[in-house]
Amino acid sequence: MAGRIPQQFIDDLISRVDIVEVIDARIPLRKAGREYVARCPFHDEKTPSFTVSPEKQFYHCFGCGAHGTAIGFLMAYEHMEFPEAVEMLAARVGLEVPHSQAAAPARSGPDLYGVLQAAADWYRRQLREHPGREAAVAYLKRRGVRGEIAAEFGLGYAPPGWDHLLPALGAPHRPALLAAGLLIEKESGGHYDRFRERIMFPIRDQRGRVIAFGGRVLGEGTPKYLNSPETPVFHKGRELYGLYEARQAVRHLERLLVVEGYMDVIMLACHGIRYACATLGTATTTTHIQRLFRLVPEVVFCFDGDRAGREAAWRALENALPLMGEGRQARFMFLPEGEDPDSVVRRENQAGFEVRIANAVTLSAFFYDHLCAQVDISSIDGRARLVELARPYLSKLPRGVFRHMMTQRLAELARMEGTALAALLEGKEAEGRGGAAAGPASSQRGRELSLVRRAITLLLHQPGLAADAGDPGRFRALDQPGMELLIEMLELLQKNPHFNTGTLLEHWREHRYGKHLARLAQAPEPLGAAEVAREFTDVLRGLDRQRLSREIEILSAKADLDTAGKQRLRALLEEKKNFD
Ligand code: UTP
Ligand code: MN
Repeated sequence: MAGRIPQQFIDDLISRVDIVEVIDARIPLRKAGREYVARCPFHDEKTPSFTVSPEKQFYHCFGCGAHGTAIGFLMAYEHMEFPEAVEMLAARVGLEVPHSQAAAPARSGPDLYGVLQAAADWYRRQLREHPGREAAVAYLKRRGVRGEIAAEFGLGYAPPGWDHLLPALGAPHRPALLAAGLLIEKESGGHYDRFRERIMFPIRDQRGRVIAFGGRVLGEGTPKYLNSPETPVFHKGRELYGLYEARQAVRHLERLLVVEGYMDVIMLACHGIRYACATLGTATTTTHIQRLFRLVPEVVFCFDGDRAGREAAWRALENALPLMGEGRQARFMFLPEGEDPDSVVRRENQAGFEVRIANAVTLSAFFYDHLCAQVDISSIDGRARLVELARPYLSKLPRGVFRHMMTQRLAELARMEGTALAALLEGKEAEGRGGAAAGPASSQRGRELSLVRRAITLLLHQPGLAADAGDPGRFRALDQPGMELLIEMLELLQKNPHFNTGTLLEHWREHRYGKHLARLAQAPEPLGAAEVAREFTDVLRGLDRQRLSREIEILSAKADLDTAGKQRLRALLEEKKNFD
């Protein structure tokens, strides 16, 4: 979406808007030191752990981990789409949102929501009225879909034939139908219906608006499910099928069950399990999990018991780690091979299925079972390896009770003393952060990685530091992960000294680093402003020293150095003395 609104504009917008005003207009904030606090609007709590920083232009909840910029807040709190949130903020500060030529976001372009709803209504009517509907009705009956549930989920029928929708909805809707992916344009300029002779499952967003469809063939045939393409209003990696319906059906949701298929959600609902939702043929993303934990404290992931299911579960676990913390629980259940929730609930009914849910394993049990299966836990070597395997995952957990307990569990398994292990794990981290002071004995690779990462983190917390960083281009000599980003960030900040944390995060929102940056910015920074500045200087010194060593290494490896080369080498050696 961001591509449609120029990045320059977003940058500008974020640096003009005041997040405190935006949030305070919706939930009253109270000043506490340099920040503002309130009870978090994204989870239930008695004492306020939601903080808003006017300096960073960033909000963060220490309870549930929700965090973001003014744009992100509007998206989460008002359930707005990105362009809507941008429009609202722009109006507030009197800016007009420029749209690049291709601009067709939900607001100014064709009315996608309207046309999607009209199509859903039409498909639904076909299930009652179309002369050929018997096959579809018989199929749903055979599978045991109850009428009320079909109605609640708005199931429909796309009849056979290539050109029904446009005649039914009216020619003026052509651009919207194309943009919504319901019509497909032919090379010749004509068009045809995407969904033909299929059972239609409307996919709704959090507000209940139809944003896409899944369509299943009646019986055999490929593809079994056809889905809407990504459109301005539909992003697979964010949406969960059935989530809106679950919220409608259950007044106080306490738990959500994540399954893989449309029909699994429908059949569970038919058997009285109203809190299931499904990813849309994609892996479970962090965005999905974040969305779920904003609604409920407990999420149960349900997978097939086969190898693919276990792998999918592990990916879900990895994506859940950064969101785990006090009060939240993630559990995993595995079904017998060849079964899915549909087949199990039909055989075992609600009660039987809920026994399985009750027996789902906790995140920690699944985590350590999975890792222990890869080592020989009876040997010292195996247990040492276990610690190494677990370490990077544990470091993804937010600091707190849960992380502490996961560390204690690792200590038991590794038969180490708990505090010794904790000291070892934390020590490694601190050493990585120690920058220029770290001794030569520490892992070279680990230290390099952390310097870049630490520099980025410090910049996120105090963007003004970039001003005195010198020419960022000099670090190109160091080919390290994240370096490219660090250089870009320094250059951007030197050009735009008014940027704040929020501006930086919005700048990279859609980028592959976006989430990572948000996570770094969210971690509380224990140091004061002056200490941050001092540490930043240290980190840059560390990088400069590495850069000099690297350049010296390259030059001295050359067999026949010319005079200029020798001079350069001498200069480098001289410069390096400042760093030893
Ligand atoms: P499954 O093949 O497990 O289907 O795909 P299912 O949900 O059990 O469906 P039934 O019971 O045969 O009707 C799981 C999910 O993967 C996606 C869909 O989201 C489906 O619900 N999928 C599957 C597709 O997108 N396309 C396909 O062709 C198949
Ligand atoms: Mn199935």
